[in-house]
Amino acid sequence: TPTPTTTVEWPLTCTVGPGLEGAIACETKVGYVNGQKGWLVYRGYNIFDLCAYSSFEEVSYLLLHGSLPSPAELEAFNQKLSTYRDISQTLRLLMNFPVEQISPMAALRLGINLMRQKQTFRDYEGALSDQAPIASDEDSIPMETLPKGDREAIYQFDKPHFIAPMDTASDLGSSTELESCYRLISGVAVLTAAIVRIRQGKLPIEPRRDLSHAANFLYMVTGEVPDDLQTRIMDVNLILHADHGMNASTFSSMVVASTLSDIYFSIGAGVAALSGPLHGGANEEVIKVLQEIGSPDRVELWFDRARKEKRKIPGFGHRVYKAYDPRARILGPLAEALAQQNPKMTLLMKTAKKLERTVVESLGKEKKIFPNVDFYSGLVYKALNLPSSIFTPIFAMSRVSGWTSRIIEYLEHNRIFRPRAIYTGDFYEDFPRQGDSK
Ligand code: ACO
Repeated sequence: TPTPTTTVEWPLTCTVGPGLEGAIACETKVGYVNGQKGWLVYRGYNIFDLCAYSSFEEVSYLLLHGSLPSPAELEAFNQKLSTYRDISQTLRLLMNFPVEQISPMAALRLGINLMRQKQTFRDYEGALSDQAPIASDEDSIPMETLPKGDREAIYQFDKPHFIAPMDTASDLGSSTELESCYRLISGVAVLTAAIVRIRQGKLPIEPRRDLSHAANFLYMVTGEVPDDLQTRIMDVNLILHADHGMNASTFSSMVVASTLSDIYFSIGAGVAALSGPLHGGANEEVIKVLQEIGSPDRVELWFDRARKEKRKIPGFGHRVYKAYDPRARILGPLAEALAQQNPKMTLLMKTAKKLERTVVESLGKEKKIFPNVDFYSGLVYKALNLPSSIFTPIFAMSRVSGWTSRIIEYLEHNRIFRPRAIYTGDFYEDFPRQGDSK
């Protein structure tokens, strides 16, 4: 087990490269990555131990609260998360937008924004029952701006009682920042499952409170309770993606939070940053590349061409890891275990293994390029029969634990993020240049 050590004093002088490489943004106790040694640590615990003995719920509690929960605390936390699965009012609103016409990440961001609206549902209810809408506060969406649709249809969820009554619904905003974090952890998973269903022309499935976070998610996507292996692998996958240092999406969400914007906007910013192909979008690209290659015997030819074209191979390389990504080390065998259950995966898996060997033999020593977590997460989702368009939202539904934990921690001693740029443009007047930084 690695022992995280603090070797620097804060504030410190550091050398910063392009892409803020080497810049130190803040102090944290949430998580630690050692890229040279391939370590990943959450609140002092080795990722290998957490994956072996913990659950996503327990890890989320650990990240947010700083210590592992007692059995009673975990029970209470699980209860809370399952209660917060009821975001029926947000889903009602979401379904009034053309969700199937926008990307799943855009839909997720929209859904998170809608979760933020505390008064909206009341406005909406008023309009639905032809009463005068309750005067909206500045946060709410006035009814007139919602696209017109078949308003009756949005009530036709799979189960008649899906829409909870107003007074018991948990979807009414929250009193504390921490409650909003719990609400977001549950809500992003429910939104992701609902977005898959809506894109398939189906209605969202009512969440089940008796299932774990991972099992409920898979159930809400497929309508079937997953088996133990599928549930456990999904759970481990969520643990692995929950936090990872000052990555682009975490930093983006913290930058927004540092302006004292609210947590929903901040998490929306994390979702936006995660959607890019250099970050969370890579897992979808991995599957596209494996399908493009087609079979193991075509890997070398494909790789030589990709090198000539100076193409970045999705699922390989990392800004921090210059050793094998521990997350890929854990996920690789799990992807293989799932693939064995699913004959459609055999060719894809064999192609992936060959590509991994080829890339590592060629670029491992030379450039320290190894598979990253995205190389195997896409294969895990594919083996679980999840559509590739929601691979990145699944990443978000896990990383929301890390985003919220780091935001809460940072806000304890908040200072707005405000780096500078080196001006390399022209001066068309003779400005006095002393100081130069203004
Ligand atoms: N395939 C081929 N060569 C690569 C790859 C790759 N996937 N990644 C890096 N390199 C090479 C670069 O060409 C560069 O070579 P050079 O020094 O000869 O120019 C060198 O390695 C350093 O690469 P940079 O792009 O400078 O590394 P950076 O730290 O800026 O980027 C990144 C890291 C974005 C992850 C990059 O490795 C990449 O684009 N990988 C593919 C996309 C991907 O898998 N993203 C997921 C990242 S993990 C995550 O977000 C969960």
